[in-house]
Amino acid sequence: MARLDPHSYNDSTQPETETLDWKARVDFRTQRLHAEATLTLKEASAGPLDLDTRDLEIRGVVDAQGRPLPYMLAPPEPILGSRLRVELPPGLRQLTVRYRTSPGASALQWLTPSQTAGGQHPFLYSQCQAIHARSVVPLQDTPRIRIRYRAALRVPKALKAVMAASFVHREEHGVEAEEHYEMPQPVPPYLLAFAVGSLAPKELGPRSRVWAEPELLEEAADEFSGVDDMLRAAEALFGPYDWERFDLLTMPPSFPYGGMENPRLTFLTPTLIAGDKSLVNVVAHELAHSWTGNLVTNASAEHFWLNEGFTVFAERRILEALAGHEVSALHAALGRRALEEALHHFRSHPNLTALRTHLSGVDPDEAFSQIPYEKGYLLLRAMEDAAGRPAFDEFLRRYLATYRFRALTTEEFTAFAERELPGVLAKVDADAYLHKPGVPPGAPSPRSARLEALVRARGTVPSADLVKDWTPTEWQLYLEWLPSDTPRDVFRQLDERFSLTKSRNSEVLVSWLVAALRGGWEPALGRAEAFLGEVGRMKYLKPLYGVLASSREYRGVARSLFKKYAERYHPIARQGVELILSRA
Ligand code: BES
Ligand code: ZN
Repeated sequence: MARLDPHSYNDSTQPETETLDWKARVDFRTQRLHAEATLTLKEASAGPLDLDTRDLEIRGVVDAQGRPLPYMLAPPEPILGSRLRVELPPGLRQLTVRYRTSPGASALQWLTPSQTAGGQHPFLYSQCQAIHARSVVPLQDTPRIRIRYRAALRVPKALKAVMAASFVHREEHGVEAEEHYEMPQPVPPYLLAFAVGSLAPKELGPRSRVWAEPELLEEAADEFSGVDDMLRAAEALFGPYDWERFDLLTMPPSFPYGGMENPRLTFLTPTLIAGDKSLVNVVAHELAHSWTGNLVTNASAEHFWLNEGFTVFAERRILEALAGHEVSALHAALGRRALEEALHHFRSHPNLTALRTHLSGVDPDEAFSQIPYEKGYLLLRAMEDAAGRPAFDEFLRRYLATYRFRALTTEEFTAFAERELPGVLAKVDADAYLHKPGVPPGAPSPRSARLEALVRARGTVPSADLVKDWTPTEWQLYLEWLPSDTPRDVFRQLDERFSLTKSRNSEVLVSWLVAALRGGWEPALGRAEAFLGEVGRMKYLKPLYGVLASSREYRGVARSLFKKYAERYHPIARQGVELILSRA
């Protein structure tokens, strides 16, 4: 037996799945998928085949002729779920599992009509990263294994089903519609994704359209209209785009992330719609994953920085190409600030602050932080400085070409880097980034004229003249940099002069609300309370609930707000907030 991924029952001595044929009927009434999954193996085989499942009710397992196969569903383990072991008779290459999902499936959020923009139709979506695909499909749920798939989703006729795959056709049968998709490129299971709801498309460019509820469609299309320029900038940096289309899906407000890089169909939080394109770095980030993550994939959650650190690096290169060095430097400064926060947060778990983590017995959702993102970014920036940009760009392209459609570990990365850029790892002390806590002293730090101007404004109430050309990113950085002992009167002046409590930019708003509440600026409370009922993005819920829960005055407010709103949040977000409140 060899289990290479601590978060999967996959046994590397058993055959791998090549393709998945998935049929599912979406039942909003019972909040279940009634489904069957046909797995075709790379080669005919005999003996046990272990699949990952979580909260699936298995109805039966049959071979290609419909003959039952013996199987055993083990009792659930807290993080991994239940191992489904099927006994394969000699020569078997294909098996079908009939099952239904549970209403509590960790990858799914079922929304009532009142939780959508239109208010008329229910909505369902999946979010499988890191190890939630197993709550939707029984499979080898490790990014080491890539599958091609075909899917048919049966949904109420009034609704549209979209998938992170290529659309084949839609059939209508009575009150239902069946939408067919196929994913011709092999993908790791965490990239399986779909959504069902009242959705309409609008074209953005030759390779892109945006999907949204009709009520949000125009705004979303305006906000993301620059996507084709982004695609072309990214291709100029990283080589041809391999996924044919780059479509966007505007999610309901309870979506727990800013974005999710589902191939061909990136999922985006509606909080990006600021009216001025000021938050499109998230689109650049998800697009960058088309190379770093979706093409070249971390072998397990222990190497997550290979996905996210590379992607933050690529995101900032795209920003630099499109908007210039000043803009990318501001984002790098925000990133550095987020990294310091995360290091503080994990101060009693320093081992989780090394890039290469050891996560046996640790839930990837609990280990999640900005560290793989921003410390990973710093390591790659340090390597870029040491090698020089042209050599590093060449290195990146060879890395992508070598590992395309594969997964790798940190150890494989360092071996590759040592071969391709001899001496660079030692020069930047990569070992400290990869295996030691904290940030190495020589880590690169962003420099730019606008950053210097901001440093001078730090902690003061800036004049109207000074802020007249500040971008939202500068506002956010200014707010993030406010000293923790800033007097209440500063918050009063800031709000009176600059109406920050009314900001439409969700990043500025949350940075403001957190700082103002920490500073005891009471008028921020009403907006924070309302916002917590509007949005389910964890990046906002965690600091807002955190700041409320850490004050004796507001702790009760935090608890009663959570009671009121918990139902609206995604299960993963709910779990995250619960943890914060339980520790307060
Ligand atoms: N892949 C992540 C989101 C994710 C990570 C989902 C881990 C589940 C488990 C996505 O690419 C991401 O990093 N999103 C960020 C965007 C940002 C860094 C620009 C987010 O959601 O805030
Ligand atoms: Zn990412």
